[in-house]
Amino acid sequence: MVGHRVLLAGTALVALALGLLAQKGDDPVSTWAERLLDDGRPARLESLEGNDCIRCHTAIGEEWRESMHALAWEDPHYRKELKSIRRKKSCWGCHVPEPLDAQGWTQKPAPRADSRHLGIDCVACHLAADGVTMLGPDGIATDAHPTQQSKLFDHDADNTICVTCHATTIGPVIGIAKDFVETEQTDLGLSCVGCHMPAIERAIANDDAGTEYPVRKGRSHRLMTPRDPHFLRKAFLFRVAVKDGRTVLSIENNCGHRVPGLLERRIHFRAKVLDESGKEVAASELTIDNRAYLPVEEALELVVEGTGATLVLEGRHEAPGVKRPVPFLERTFTLER
Ligand code: HEC
Ligand code: HEC
Ligand code: HEC
Ligand code: HEC
Ligand code: HEC
Repeated sequence: MVGHRVLLAGTALVALALGLLAQKGDDPVSTWAERLLDDGRPARLESLEGNDCIRCHTAIGEEWRESMHALAWEDPHYRKELKSIRRKKSCWGCHVPEPLDAQGWTQKPAPRADSRHLGIDCVACHLAADGVTMLGPDGIATDAHPTQQSKLFDHDADNTICVTCHATTIGPVIGIAKDFVETEQTDLGLSCVGCHMPAIERAIANDDAGTEYPVRKGRSHRLMTPRDPHFLRKAFLFRVAVKDGRTVLSIENNCGHRVPGLLERRIHFRAKVLDESGKEVAASELTIDNRAYLPVEEALELVVEGTGATLVLEGRHEAPGVKRPVPFLERTFTLER
């Protein structure tokens, strides 16, 4: 009997080992889905194989590998949507693009055939049409490769790099960069890079010889995303007013585009008015999504039928593939008497 039990335990161990092996197999959907962070982000791109830039640009590589650009092919939500599309190739161009400069910054980038796991890789944005020169903001000379300063990387003047892929409405995606272009946000001093790639100071290169490269001002490739509650909070400006026995909360768009920008992404607001003793007087809710969205440069009103001492506002963010809505906001406003 005892021997039998040991045998059973042994079988279980083998089965477990086989299960682990099977999980390490090549179905990225199941393996990545297991590794979603609470807010819906996959942890980071695992394999950097095939990306030679990272050998000398390790710090930037580390930023980039945690961005949705690095994960654009492995993303479980994308892979799931792809299953139901007949002409799958029509979905590849922006998620695994050939270098864009050679293509002329078209809004229909061509897909590449190799190293797809790298998603939107470094050369997609930086390789010049000549196939050897690296375009960048400064054109710093190096013997590693030719470099050239390009106005494409001057974000105060030009947003072409980002607009190229973000202005098309396709699949579950809303081309929100169109809002940015149509309402001429550059004239207000805004840029995609300015909000989504935070200013940072660090050496931009390293090598095997241990050369000390200077610390330079640059932009983090760790893109700011609405999956990050701190960043999502910045999307709105709030104002509270008391009028005719009602409390009116105005929710103003603070981005250069509409909110949100993806089907099934919803943002819920709940406002409650409390009296002096903290008891709830009245409450009201508002949800924004792809149809009832918050347009650029506009505001929506959340009206609570009643007034009191304070208004407490809570926000939750719901996105496809994320199990539970993520709280991103809790704020208390004192009401005028
Ligand atoms: C013109 C470029 C372009 C093409 C072509 C394209 N996408 Fe995308 N895709 C994007 C951009 C940009 C985003 C990011 C949108 C966002 O987060 O607001 C995205 C994001 C997604 C996401 C959301 C991932 C997530 O949860 O954040 C899915 C799913 C997706 N695409 C599926 C598709 C499918 C299916 C097709 C083909 C029908 C397709 N895409 C073709 C540009 C494109
Ligand atoms: C052998 C090492 C090495 C490799 C590999 C390498 N680089 Fe560089 N790169 C450098 C060095 C060194 C600099 C200059 C750093 C400095 O002076 O601070 C540089 C500068 C740059 C710049 C800055 C240009 C500007 O405007 O100032 C860009 C962009 C760039 N590299 C992109 C890439 C990309 C993309 C790849 C991969 C295709 C790559 N590099 C591969 C070493 C390398
Ligand atoms: C080659 C096409 C392409 C270019 C160029 C591009 N993007 Fe993207 N971007 C995408 C795709 C595709 C995704 C979605 C990846 C996914 O979730 O599967 C994305 C995701 C994002 C996200 C994350 C959205 C989310 O839901 O978390 C932000 C923010 C973003 N891009 C901003 C930018 C900015 C800023 C630039 C310019 C510096 C830029 N993008 C250039 C294709 C592109
Ligand atoms: C003033 C700051 C600001 C500017 C300018 C800006 N964004 Fe955003 N962006 C945000 C904020 C805040 C969010 C989070 C709210 C949301 O999801 O829309 C966001 C969200 C996004 C998302 C995710 C949208 C979604 O709901 O799936 C993408 C993609 C994006 N921005 C791309 C861009 C691109 C491309 C540009 C330039 C054409 C740009 N942004 C300009 C602040 C900005
Ligand atoms: C979606 C496009 C995109 C991708 C992908 C991308 N970059 Fe960049 N990169 C930019 C933009 C835009 C800037 C300049 C931001 C600015 O200053 O306006 C930049 C700046 C740089 C710089 C100058 C220093 C700095 O921090 O601003 C270097 C070096 C660089 N990138 C290397 C890389 C490497 C290496 C990769 C891959 C790991 C990569 N980039 C991936 C768009 C991209």
